[in-house]
This record gives sequence, C-alpha cells and structure tokens, in this order.
Amino acid sequence: MKGLILSGGKGTRLYPLTYTRAKQLIPVANKPVLVRVIEAIREAGVREVGIVVGPTAAEIKDALGDGIAWDVKLSYIHQASPDGLAHAVKVSRDFLGDDPFVMFLGDNVIEGGISSLIRDFADNAWNSQIVLKEVDNPSAYGVALMRPDGSIQQLIEKPPVPPSNLALVGIYMFDRHIFQAVDAIKPSARGEYEITDAIQWLIDHDFSVFPHIHRGWWIDTGKPTDMLDANSYVLEEITPDIHPAAQVDCASTVDSRVTLQAGAKVINSIIRGPTIIGKNTLIENSYVGPFTSIYHGCQIRGCEIERSIVLENSRIIDIDGALRDSLIGRNASVKRSRGKPSGIKMNLGDHSTLWV
Ligand code: DAU
Repeated sequence: MKGLILSGGKGTRLYPLTYTRAKQLIPVANKPVLVRVIEAIREAGVREVGIVVGPTAAEIKDALGDGIAWDVKLSYIHQASPDGLAHAVKVSRDFLGDDPFVMFLGDNVIEGGISSLIRDFADNAWNSQIVLKEVDNPSAYGVALMRPDGSIQQLIEKPPVPPSNLALVGIYMFDRHIFQAVDAIKPSARGEYEITDAIQWLIDHDFSVFPHIHRGWWIDTGKPTDMLDANSYVLEEITPDIHPAAQVDCASTVDSRVTLQAGAKVINSIIRGPTIIGKNTLIENSYVGPFTSIYHGCQIRGCEIERSIVLENSRIIDIDGALRDSLIGRNASVKRSRGKPSGIKMNLGDHSTLWV
C-alpha cells in the first residue's frame, strides 16, 4: 500500500495568504494541514508516500524534506499544471506502480484518522473505496448516489441539483485499474480531468466501488472560514501541554486547556483554552480567548483576541476592542494609530478583507 497526497493547485480562495504560500502549509492548531495528512497516513501503517506538487513545490519540499521527521519516505511528483485530480493520478503512475494506494487531498482535515478505512479496503476485494460524509451543502462537492446493495451507482462533481446529501471527502482508495480509467476520460466542462469521472468510468465498466461513511467532522480548508472551523475542531482534540521552557508570570491566568510551546511567554494576561501559543511568542497585557492559535515568534500586546489564527512573526499591539474570527498572515502588523488626523490606516495585500 502506498500513499498519494495532492498538493498542487493555487489555493485562490485563500488569497491573500496563499499568494506567497502553499495553502496546504497553513497551520491549523500550529501544525500545517499537510503535516496532519502525512501523520494520518503514517498512523494507518503506510510509509511510502508521494506528494503531487505544482507551483509551490520548492516551499513544500523545504517544509517536509525527505519525510524522515514523520517516519515516512516522501517522493515528490511534479504536475506541470493543475489539470485535475485524475490528472494528478496519471502523472503519479511511475511512483505508484501496481500497488493499491490511498489518495488524500492535501487540504483536508478529518477527525479520527484513516486506519479503519485502510483496514476496510484491505479486507475486501473492491477496486475502489471512497469516503463519504452527509453534508448540508452537497453542491459544493463531488456527490454520490448509492445502490440498495450499498455500492456506488453514480458520482457527480459539484452538481447544481445534488442527487443526495453524500459528499465526497477528499480521501480515496484505488487499485491499479484506476489508471485505465484516468486514461479513458476526457476533461470536464471546467477543463479538468475529474477523479469523479474516473471513478464513474470504473463503475460503468463493472469494477466495484464501495463507500466508507465518515461520521466524525471533516473540513476541506478551501476558505478562511473553513480554516477557522478546522482550527476549532483540532484545538478541541489536542491534549494540552505546557512546555518546560514556556514562562507564565504570577499576574497571568492560563487555564487547563491551553498549550504553550517552547519559549512562549505570558505576562499579565488571561488565556482561555482550547488555545495554542507558539514557540517564542509573547503575550503581554492581553486576553487570548478560546479557539485561538498564535504561531511562532508573534507578539500580542495590549489586546483581546478570540477564535482566530495568527501566523508566524506577526505583531498585534494596543488594539481597542476585541479581534475575533480573524486570520492574520505572516509578518503582519496590526497596531493602534495615535497620530492625527485620526482614522483607520491600512496597507492591505491584494484580495485582503477588513471588517471595521
Ligand atoms: O474536498 C473534497 C472535494 O475535493 C471533493 O468533494 C470533490 O469531489 C473534489 O473534486 C475536490 O474538490 P475541490 O474543488 O475542493 O478540489 P481542489 O481544486 O481544491 O483540489 C483539492 C486538492 O488537490 C488541493 O490540495 C490541490 C490539489 N490539486 C488540485 C488539482 C485540481 C492537485 O494537486 N492537482 C490538481 O490538478
């Protein structure tokens, strides 16, 4: 069994954060989504993992290296342009050989890992297994229709009128027959080789495709609100930990659901969990509320922040009123302006959003 992680594409819905960074490297609870995916695959016993990369290849290679840190052997597979999920399978042919494989979209976060899915596939002689989840907005995803015997009858990519509420979660199991399918299909109306069309080809040619219904939470971290939701879910799950090299002064209150990473410093502040404060981050004269992840090297001074994600080396200083539901990129600076004439000043990146 091999693993294939899809990490190409541009992540336009997460602009401006993804102008300069691969969306799969944005951290959720201070760990990049892509690292969470690698850990889930490794936990299921799979060690040989290929990562399909596109324009952000250099940054991804820099962050993950050869995979030794997660006890996996990583191979990078270059996809010249993001021509669809089935195209990504096609370009991975040499890496995958004839082995069965689990394909995991590198921007998905899921509760509870994939060990039971992999066991299920190994115990059955199916050609493919797909993960489904009941959702309220199926039109945003690939949607499945099941037969009375529990097998898959039909898959449609983002249908305006969905035939069911069963969305395709970005995790799929395949045997070698998927290569016949990806070679046979044509690009869809949006110009992509769709994995849903390839799986439909398997169904139409009498190969067996069965579902695994996922009961826990699942987030496709496509948009900023998805990142905040994923952050909240993961923070609820992690075991809180105060690193011995973190410091909390006696004027501060840090509750039992807070994680402080090495070198984090809390001075005259209140921190309510579930929350994580990154390495060498300073929290001073501030309130940090539940469901907040502040990454490494940040400074939060004289302000209140809740249910937010702050990326590395950013500074939020002397803000009146609380910051909530915010996603703040790397090396950003949010400060009170004391000069006259008064008013709100900003240097916002392209595609930024500011609510005042
Ligand atoms: O998240 C679940 C959904 O993922 C499924 O319900 C859909 O059926 C499936 O098509 C997919 O839809 P998305 O619109 O979310 O796919 P997206 O373009 O965001 O790509 C998903 C991941 O795959 C992302 O990490 C980028 C990577 N990718 C994407 C394309 C199109 C590649 O590596 N190569 C590609 O050519």
